[in-house]
Amino acid sequence: MKYRKIGNLEVSSVGLGCMGMSHAYGEVSDKKEMIELLAKAVDLGYTFFDTAEIYGTPDEPHHNESLVGEALKPYRNKVVIATKFGIGFDYSSKTVPLPLIPDSRPETIRKSVEGSLKRLQTDYIDLYYQHRLDENIPIEDVAGVMKELIDEGKILHWGLSEAVEETIRKAHKVCPVTAIQNRYHMMYRKYESLFPVLEDLNIGFVPFSPLANGLLSNKYNKETVFTDKKDYRSAMPQFKPQAYDANRELFELIRATAVEKNATPAQISLAWMICKKSYIAPIPGTRKFDRLKENAGAADIELTPDEVGKIDEALNKMEMSEVYGGTKIVKK
Ligand SMILES: NC(=O)c1ccc[n+]([C@@H]2O[C@H](COP(=O)([O-])OP(=O)(O)OC[C@H]3O[C@@H](n4cnc5c(N)ncnc54)[C@H](OP(=O)(O)O)[C@@H]3O)[C@@H](O)[C@H]2O)c1
Repeated sequence: MKYRKIGNLEVSSVGLGCMGMSHAYGEVSDKKEMIELLAKAVDLGYTFFDTAEIYGTPDEPHHNESLVGEALKPYRNKVVIATKFGIGFDYSSKTVPLPLIPDSRPETIRKSVEGSLKRLQTDYIDLYYQHRLDENIPIEDVAGVMKELIDEGKILHWGLSEAVEETIRKAHKVCPVTAIQNRYHMMYRKYESLFPVLEDLNIGFVPFSPLANGLLSNKYNKETVFTDKKDYRSAMPQFKPQAYDANRELFELIRATAVEKNATPAQISLAWMICKKSYIAPIPGTRKFDRLKENAGAADIELTPDEVGKIDEALNKMEMSEVYGGTKIVKK
């Protein structure tokens, strides 16, 4: 594993997204197995773990934080735990994925932080993100609460998820932001426009869904069918049978680069972003040890700026299928 800085926070160059252990990828995983997997992640050098208050099920709405808290307790002083506040699921909805209800009222954030600290079995959160913007609450007010929480020692850093330039700049003025966590992968590159802003403000970038929900590992094909409605991939356009034909050129680019670099396609998909900017630390999610190890290996793959540029050029011109771009937000 290698390490790098996002803002002023040091993390492993590849982090571990823990969401899928409790949410969005079918049944909740076996707790004992996941606790063992998280311990192995620490052994492999992962120091950056991503969870959120809302990763769970209707019966156990905070399952993921409780799992992560229990698993990482023995290693607390050597890991960075990132969690998130500010949204709930609309469990009354029948749509897949479930719509999101933003709520960043200061009193809600206060309640959330106490709940997260308890479930994570810690007295500080390393990195606390606003999960989605709440249009009813000025971002300056949210940043003000973050400043108080930092002063109180309850959080060490804060960040924003799915944020745009205007919000980032306003937030940063009130309380310096450490990291932005936005969707980013070879099929979804719109946030590259934020890079100059992040460089200007010394903010790190944490790509979520860096493998396009697994597709960019080249391990899935037309025969892969997700029928469980609890598995959000059942509703994602990149996993429809026709998408495999539409993405043939992309798969070939990743495959050929992998052969050239003696790496796997998943490693190339991650190395492409890791090598692009020194402040990018993706958080691929997995529930399997071999993939955990494979993804960690991406930190050791070297792509030169020229090689990254050539991949970008090819991506710019390429036809691709539609790709999942996020969950509906309920307006209040
Ligand atoms: N801020 C936000 O709004 C937001 C939204 C979504 C996600 N996130 C965070 O980002 C993390 C990652 O995102 P994500 O889970 O949406 O997408 P992802 O990391 O692109 O993909 C995860 C999927 O890919 C599979 N996978 C992982 N490594 C693989 C490999 N080497 N080979 C083949 N398949 C592989 C996993 O399956 P297995 O588990 O079966 O290995 C899982 O189904 C989440 O865990 C969460 O912490 C944040």
